[in-house]
Amino acid sequence: MSFDDKLFDYTLKAAKEFEDGLASNPVVPTSEALDNIKLFDQPMPIAKTKAIDVIKMLNEIGSPATTLTRSGRFFGFVVGGTLPVSVASSWLTSTWDQNSSLTVLGYVNAKLEQVAQKWIVEMLELPTGTAVGFVTGATMAGFTSLCAARTRIYNNLGYDLKTGGLRNAPKIRFILSEDIHSTNIRALNYMGYGTDEFEYVPVDEDGRIIVDQIPKLDNNCIMLIQAGNINSGAFDDFKTICALAKKAGAWVHVDGAFGGWIKVSPTRKHLADGMELADSWSIDCHKWLNVPYDSAIAICRDREAMMEAFTITASYLTTDGERIPNNFTPELSRRARGIDVWAALKHLGKEGFGELIDRCCDHASNFSKELEKMGFTIMNDVVINQAVFCLNDNDDQRLKEIMDKVAESGKAWFGPTHWQGRDVYRISVSSHETTSADIDVALEAIKEAMA
Ligand SMILES: Cc1ncc(COP(=O)(O)O)c(C=O)c1O
Repeated sequence: MSFDDKLFDYTLKAAKEFEDGLASNPVVPTSEALDNIKLFDQPMPIAKTKAIDVIKMLNEIGSPATTLTRSGRFFGFVVGGTLPVSVASSWLTSTWDQNSSLTVLGYVNAKLEQVAQKWIVEMLELPTGTAVGFVTGATMAGFTSLCAARTRIYNNLGYDLKTGGLRNAPKIRFILSEDIHSTNIRALNYMGYGTDEFEYVPVDEDGRIIVDQIPKLDNNCIMLIQAGNINSGAFDDFKTICALAKKAGAWVHVDGAFGGWIKVSPTRKHLADGMELADSWSIDCHKWLNVPYDSAIAICRDREAMMEAFTITASYLTTDGERIPNNFTPELSRRARGIDVWAALKHLGKEGFGELIDRCCDHASNFSKELEKMGFTIMNDVVINQAVFCLNDNDDQRLKEIMDKVAESGKAWFGPTHWQGRDVYRISVSSHETTSADIDVALEAIKEAMA
């Protein structure tokens, strides 16, 4: 069956309209648009529906009901926008429908994962030979890296997890930042470890590990630290922590879901000095690299440990090609998300990517300064793209009312957070779309809401 021009022309037009509306449409859907979502509640159709009618329904009900996280005026969570080049690469590769598990099923993906791997390793100043696995998000990137970590630790202790299983395994000690992102705990839970087994290290007011409170490490330790605290954007002291770990033979994993990319910034890369001394890293691509969901990378210095954790064999699985893509990820079949990463990097270049990162950080800093003039307190040291704010009078209920009004206006959106024992709000500037004009619109919306 050949592609139906009308279907694809319509879809392209709908996508363009969506794109054109990013600058002016409400950041959150109207209540009417949200109400219309219930029109999807239909019984399973018995008869066929024409493809174009399905897409029309999706567009007419769905497009107005999207949260414009892609907009330059969305400052919630840490979500990132998406670069048009990666939307386009994602369309084309979906059309190819390549299975990215094996080289023979996707020659282009296999090559471009390899190219992107090389570029990423160089950009992050990691040793040649460092392995990169292309996974769905930082949660899975953490899982993937930590699976490699435990493989190495168990091997060092003379234990084969694959045959012996977790129940008979020697104890691994997990040393975690008290403020580690909860998805790392989720990953460890998936791997069969419980929170009672974890040793937490206290953090300072910006969420950085207090290094002299790190317990004595040994060679059965995996330590989890951060490049970019989810609230403050703060970085752990990589140099000191990695030196301690190296001496003890412990493995250090860095959750750098967004902050890991700071190494690309010409002006702020010093914040991550020593990050390259760790053993593994998890970084999202759907955040600061601005590629479409879902996309992240698990990076491991110890290529063999990663491959040992994930390589599978079966009678029908081929082992051709220089680098078998599924040897570095938990999944076998998966989409060619590495191609979107390659497209974004090829398009931006290191300079453009660094400029994108710096621009977001500058916006966060300017935004914070303007908020301070308006009667807000910035609760963190704004080192990158993240700021946490409250009202000067500490009236957190009024703050919520103001931010609810801002959200209702559709002009901008900010996410709540719990920080230093308070219910306050957060700014994250992670989209290439955000301009100074967007910051002005957001500030104006806050002023109106305060009035
Ligand atoms: C620091 C940090 N780690 C992990 C995650 C989880 O990432 P994902 O939702 O892509 O799995 C996030 C998401 O916000 C994060 O900010």
